[in-house]
Amino acid sequence: MTASGADTIKLPEIKLVDKYNRRLDYLRISVTDRCNMQCIYCMTHGKIQKLPGREILSYEEIFRLALIFIKLGISKIRVTGGEPLVRKGVCDFLIKLGRLEELSDLSITTNGILLKEKIGKIKSAGIKRLNISLDTLKKDKFKKITGSDAFNEVWSSIMAAHDSGFYPIKLNVVVLRGINDDELLDFAGLTFSYPFHIRFIEYMPIGTSHLTSRQLFAPEIKNIISSIGHLNPVQRNRFDGPAQRFKFENAKGEIGFIRPISEHFCSSCNRLRLTASGNLKTCLLSDTETDLKTPLRNGCSDDKLAEIILRTVYDKPFEHPLSSNCAGIIPGHMSKIGG
Ligand code: 5AD
Ligand code: SF4
Repeated sequence: MTASGADTIKLPEIKLVDKYNRRLDYLRISVTDRCNMQCIYCMTHGKIQKLPGREILSYEEIFRLALIFIKLGISKIRVTGGEPLVRKGVCDFLIKLGRLEELSDLSITTNGILLKEKIGKIKSAGIKRLNISLDTLKKDKFKKITGSDAFNEVWSSIMAAHDSGFYPIKLNVVVLRGINDDELLDFAGLTFSYPFHIRFIEYMPIGTSHLTSRQLFAPEIKNIISSIGHLNPVQRNRFDGPAQRFKFENAKGEIGFIRPISEHFCSSCNRLRLTASGNLKTCLLSDTETDLKTPLRNGCSDDKLAEIILRTVYDKPFEHPLSSNCAGIIPGHMSKIGG
């Protein structure tokens, strides 16, 4: 029995399903909008206003909501930010989440700066799978893209995670023309030396990062990296997200393409997002959010919160409005949503 009473809610067989019959079982929780980097495609070098501390959900509040989501059928949780590891107490929070037997998977997405120092605790939370953002293998360029001089720290965190047995380690590469497209072969080549999953992500025009002219889509990326070997498709498994997976002959690792723009995966989308400020987002690329924090703080019961969640999820948009031939920009900020 928890303080919230969430264990007592009776929701017989009501599960998170939307009106298009998509079953939602994956929740991404952003624990903070703060970040120790300012990536050009996300934070646009510090121009985004930070949420006042009181607007950010406490761990107790997040945990209470997480229990309700789990009752409603969420079985996979990813903790994100901003940068989740900058928030004080995050490891204890992860350990608490990791004890929930109903979760078949708990993972985090991090920029890696603080990963090495926290790696023991993260492992003790039962986390095995890590996503780490890494857009360049060059120290100078790293500073230009992220505003931070921490390439060496990040690389050494990746190595530490590898040495301590995390698997798979997925390296997220947001591909931008004229910025890091000259490194596609270097990234692809890493899969021959390490069992990493290199995931090339198409840039999404969200918020104030105006980089649409630099967008590079997966077919072109695939074409470029195919010069070093034949890419064989990899069988999908139950932990698979939206990545289209491939492997070079004799490689240890894999290549993935995440194509939110050139071939969106909306029809099979199984994910929900809880923002740092306690809003439920049913689609990353939609500006519609449902406030859970106000009812939560106003003494709403778990049953009532569950009802709000179910109603919001039912109305999840069928698909997002962007495509490769549409130059729209989606309002909002990635650092507050967590990608
Ligand atoms: N487009 C595509 N990917 C993005 N990410 C952050 N902002 C964007 C964007 N505008 C990625 C980061 C991180 C993940 C959570 O989302 O690389 O790895
Ligand atoms: Fe799902 Fe929205 Fe992402 Fe499409 S854009 S895949 S609907 S979260």
